[in-house]
Amino acid sequence: MTAQNPQKLRSRAWFDNPDNIDMTALYLERYLNFGLSLEELQSGKPIIGIAQTGSDLSPCNRHHLVLAERVREGIREAGGIAIEFPVHPIQETGKRPTAGLDRNLAYMGLVELLYGYPLDGVVLTIGCDKTTPACLMAAATVNIPAIALSVGPMLNGWHKGERTGSGTIVWKARQMLAAGEIDDKEFIKLVASSAPSTGYCNTMGTATTMNSLCEALGMSLPGSAAIPAPYRDRQEVSYITGKRIVEMVAEDLKPSDILTREAFENAIVVNSAIGGSTNAPIHLAAIARHIGVDLPIETWQEKGHKVPLLVNLQPAGEYLGEDYYRAGGVPAVTAQLMQQGLIHEGALTVNGKSMGDNCRNATIEDEKVIRPFGQPLLEDAGFIVLKGNLFDAAIMKTSVISPEFRERYLSNPNDPEAFEGPAVVFDGPEDYHHRIDDPSVGITDQTLLFMRGAGPIGYPGAAEVVNMRPPAYLIREGVHALPCIGDGRQSGTSGSPSILNASPEAAAMGGLALIQTGDRVRIDLNKGTADVLISDEELDARRQKLVGEGGFKFPASQTPWQEIQRAVVGQMNTGAILEGAEKYQKIAQTAGLPRDNH
Ligand code: FES
Ligand code: MG
Repeated sequence: MTAQNPQKLRSRAWFDNPDNIDMTALYLERYLNFGLSLEELQSGKPIIGIAQTGSDLSPCNRHHLVLAERVREGIREAGGIAIEFPVHPIQETGKRPTAGLDRNLAYMGLVELLYGYPLDGVVLTIGCDKTTPACLMAAATVNIPAIALSVGPMLNGWHKGERTGSGTIVWKARQMLAAGEIDDKEFIKLVASSAPSTGYCNTMGTATTMNSLCEALGMSLPGSAAIPAPYRDRQEVSYITGKRIVEMVAEDLKPSDILTREAFENAIVVNSAIGGSTNAPIHLAAIARHIGVDLPIETWQEKGHKVPLLVNLQPAGEYLGEDYYRAGGVPAVTAQLMQQGLIHEGALTVNGKSMGDNCRNATIEDEKVIRPFGQPLLEDAGFIVLKGNLFDAAIMKTSVISPEFRERYLSNPNDPEAFEGPAVVFDGPEDYHHRIDDPSVGITDQTLLFMRGAGPIGYPGAAEVVNMRPPAYLIREGVHALPCIGDGRQSGTSGSPSILNASPEAAAMGGLALIQTGDRVRIDLNKGTADVLISDEELDARRQKLVGEGGFKFPASQTPWQEIQRAVVGQMNTGAILEGAEKYQKIAQTAGLPRDNH
């Protein structure tokens, strides 16, 4: 406990170190200078950081600027001292060329802050897609007591009496525009209708996914992830989160106590049941590597594939964030899974209780939105992990494969899970936008669309460009989806039947660098294979030729960080982390304190 044992607090080494009064004075004078008092700083109260991810540059998380006031009140009331500081902002749809590039940058920045300043614990303000993994990766690395606070989703979007969901409406509106059903002005109006308030994307995109999984991992308070941003309950849970982190410091409850293999398996199972984003495997792998948990990509299929889809949210279903909260959120989903023995009930969470104790009695409040386990929207809704001569690993989100698509591609009675067709290959989204509607490219309803040069190195950070619509002439004929395969990512809000995150990427000379338009490709979902149907000799010859030409071409770096990240980033199947960073684990314990600075 802090009061009995103040020396346990790492902030004491800055503010109250009798062995080094020189430095103590130096540290004190600068924190006194904005209004904290000597009495407070030497009181033995824990110093709690509020890692602020909200700003005008990140509208999805901007409401944290307001919520932080309630967090502070909670911290103060529980006997702590709050120090709020900015985290490098990340906003998924505004940042070019990718927000993925910034996840590792924010991670690295936050590691320096949490380790190098007098902080005893931290509240991680999460929300927009990459802010959640960036914060959790840093908290895992440093391993001081940490609790995450979601900013919450936006209110539901509406247009002409129908729910319009973030992102998902964009993919739909694009098709309507391509088919000539709406004009440019209506296109913008329709898309904007999906964002009626502050908060993150209201669909089951990457933001709702990662905030839900953060709760499933045990890193945020039970029931907190789904509360819409503007609701009063969101203010209340901010206050409780502030109070709780002070207790966690006293209990020395650290990320390494919570982020165990069991916790990650729980998150994978929950991800299938909520219809979570294909970005989740990348981010969970990254968090796992920074805390030292072994979580190979195959775990997603082993633990997750057989789990049914229970949450009826767009893009896999109909509803949106407000409905998800009203129906019971993460605890209601977890309780359903728990009754089937699919959840490790003993996994510890930030409130000091187990997942089982937190969720066992949670009930579904609206069965249209969260289905009981026995009446799912879809059986076997988890990801399939594929490999072959095209890549070592890629994933497919099966919960968004439409009946139309199943009918078209997966209806061969002898081989119900396989499809085969000719490839059309695009080198980046510019190439795709330029040529997709050109009839001379020869795309038919049998074509498989390929996108390459879009991975962590090729399009630094990996772009969400693999979800490609069919040509306008096919949409007019009623073909709304073609299979897409690529070394980039796909927005979690997209419902395309895509094979994503192919690793290694073309820029790392994976199989996608070698495929050519016209090659036949065979995908077998049962066997988990994806192959271009050409001989090993021919593939070798193509590889030799490409190596001779200097390798797969991609645009030069435009900023220093792009160059640094490209030099050290790993592939998506292993988290796309800064390779080498994972050896700095739990540094608050393993590395001791940093040296004095003067
Ligand atoms: Fe930020 Fe969707 S773009 S949450
Ligand atoms: Mg996105």
